Amino acid sequence: MKKYLVDDTAYYVNAKGAGPILLFAHGFPFDGRLYEEAIDRLASRFYCVVPGLRGFGQTPLGSNGHNSLGYPRVKMGRFADDLAILGAEIACERGCKGSKVFLCGLSMGGYILLEFARRRPQMLQGMIFCDSNATADPPEKAAARVYLAETIDSFGVHTLADNMIPNLLSPHTNKEKTEVVSKLREMITSQSPQGIAAGARGMSVRRNLVDLLPTIDVPTLVLGGEDDKLSPPELLDGIAAAIPNAQRATVSKAGHLPPLENPEEFADAILNWHASVSWPK
Ligand code: MLT
Repeated sequence: MKKYLVDDTAYYVNAKGAGPILLFAHGFPFDGRLYEEAIDRLASRFYCVVPGLRGFGQTPLGSNGHNSLGYPRVKMGRFADDLAILGAEIACERGCKGSKVFLCGLSMGGYILLEFARRRPQMLQGMIFCDSNATADPPEKAAARVYLAETIDSFGVHTLADNMIPNLLSPHTNKEKTEVVSKLREMITSQSPQGIAAGARGMSVRRNLVDLLPTIDVPTLVLGGEDDKLSPPELLDGIAAAIPNAQRATVSKAGHLPPLENPEEFADAILNWHASVSWPK
């Protein structure tokens, strides 16, 4: 793991490969391990940069991971700004100061990706939007997230994992890939309650960015698992249709977490998309 000072915290990052910088934003409540297998394959084409986002994995929440009342909360824009700082720092380190980056975001990472595209379109070379959506939470969903943030200490990460896992994975993964189910459980239960509370509160106040989609003018891949119940294929079809010239791909034998459930096909979809676009020299 490499360590980078970002704003008021230290981002812990798994980085490997060679080529243009590809930053990854994981979903909730996970960390960079979500992409571990996929980047083995992607490292042939990209310099893959996989952080634990603020409050997740080994990355501390920092004082800016709290709202003005002192409760843990990280808004999607804060995560996006952190990634911009991290991307700029890594570009400097690799001797390509100011160069654009690729960004891949899954689910909560997709919300972050859209905030990044809204705030810093000039930094984006291309984007991979996975298993996510562009709308804000309806009020009842936002309230449920605040309730989770307020109760996670007593509720516990193990109960959270029990409640979440069946809905996250495809029937194929749940039945045939016990090692993936165990890895996911370990990833969820190793997160801190404060990080979970911060991410949940942050998602509950995210913007509706549906109107941003037609303005996106960088090459985009919209990618999702064929069995994703949380962001189903029809929803992703609609998002791909709204983004000019976006490509669409579906990962078989995967639910909400394709990089974990079918890392080969997930990585190949990105490699094929990258090979199909003519990038500016
Ligand atoms: C995720 O995987 O990041 C979550 O499903 C996002 C959400 O709860 O909206």
